[in-house]
Amino acid sequence: MSDNNPTQAPLLDIQDLQVNFHTRRGLVRAVRNLNLSINEGETLALVGESGCGKSVTAHAITRLVPMPPGDIASGSILFRGDNLLDLSEREMRTLRGSKISMIFQEPMTSLNPVFTIGTQIAEVFRTHTNMGKKEAFEKAVELLDLVKIPAPAKRAQSYPHQLSGGMRQRAMIAMALASPEPGLMIADEPTTALDVTIQAQILQLLSELKERVGMSILLITHDMGVVAETADRVAVMYAGRKVEDAPVEELFANPQHPYAAGLLGCQPSSPQNKGAHRLESIDGSVPDLLSIGEECPFSNRCPNASDRCRAGFPEKSEAGPNHAYWCHHPISNSGVAS
Ligand SMILES: Nc1ncnc2c1ncn2[C@@H]1O[C@H](COP(=O)(O)OP(=O)(O)OP(=O)(O)O)[C@@H](O)[C@H]1O
Ligand code: SF4
Ligand SMILES: [Mg+2]
Repeated sequence: MSDNNPTQAPLLDIQDLQVNFHTRRGLVRAVRNLNLSINEGETLALVGESGCGKSVTAHAITRLVPMPPGDIASGSILFRGDNLLDLSEREMRTLRGSKISMIFQEPMTSLNPVFTIGTQIAEVFRTHTNMGKKEAFEKAVELLDLVKIPAPAKRAQSYPHQLSGGMRQRAMIAMALASPEPGLMIADEPTTALDVTIQAQILQLLSELKERVGMSILLITHDMGVVAETADRVAVMYAGRKVEDAPVEELFANPQHPYAAGLLGCQPSSPQNKGAHRLESIDGSVPDLLSIGEECPFSNRCPNASDRCRAGFPEKSEAGPNHAYWCHHPISNSGVAS
């Protein structure tokens, strides 16, 4: 079951997902027993240090995990009640770019360099409707205007390399919006490659579009400043496990998991340095996923670690409505350490 308790069925409901990679060094358990839900119209931020399984989770939702070496060993991913893991590749292709869209850190890898952006966006309209070329191109220009690209009719004639990074990201967002009913947008580090001012503009744009189009957003980010400004709810991952899940204000005010609290200790202290701090200020580093057994994976870095933590991963606990965490010695019980 999902960890929050919305009155409405969630748009996306991931249940007990396990994603492994069979590598020459051994089995990498990239995502373990993950339960994650996103409600209609909600922005869920997925946060955690590099290598903790955020992108693999996004790739599992869109069925883009390379198999082999990847393997979705168990679990289900319900989207409006249908298990995406049961769909054929063809059905999944239709869903990607229609009800589920994706934007990534570097849009150059997703845009086709040999077509103008107007043509590429128009192509999305033409795939999902019987619109003619001219009408689809006009609709593409309207979308470029919607995502606040200046002189959109002229820009529609540009090739991706002729645009700045921020413009390309806007073009990607426009492309995602060209789908008939964008239900879920997955944004994997969408602003990391951009400078701070442009980052803020893109995040503002995503928030506006969420209201306007009524879509849900899965926002993957390293940046707690971005989380504070953009998300409704936050799921914190560590070494393939979800360790805390809470509404954004609740997590910032009352983190329970020592790792989540550590991340918040790294949050920017002033609007001027927003986005400048990353998660590196927690001592130590993420353990090699190959060497993690059933213990709490944070136990080699955690000030609260006990033998109990090294013996087994904790069960779910609740700190309040929709606030779940997985820790034997949470902050509220322990003060700093127990
Ligand atoms: N194709 C692959 N083959 C083997 N291991 C992989 C593959 N893709 C991902 N992994 C492993 O899965 C784990 C999770 O990776 P993932 O890309 O999801 O991390 P992430 O949280 O998105 O990190 P980042 O913040 O750096 O993007 C990592 O240990 C990574 O090495
Ligand atoms: S207190 Fe134990 S269970 Fe909680 S994060 Fe630390 S090591 Fe893990
Ligand atoms: Mg990633």
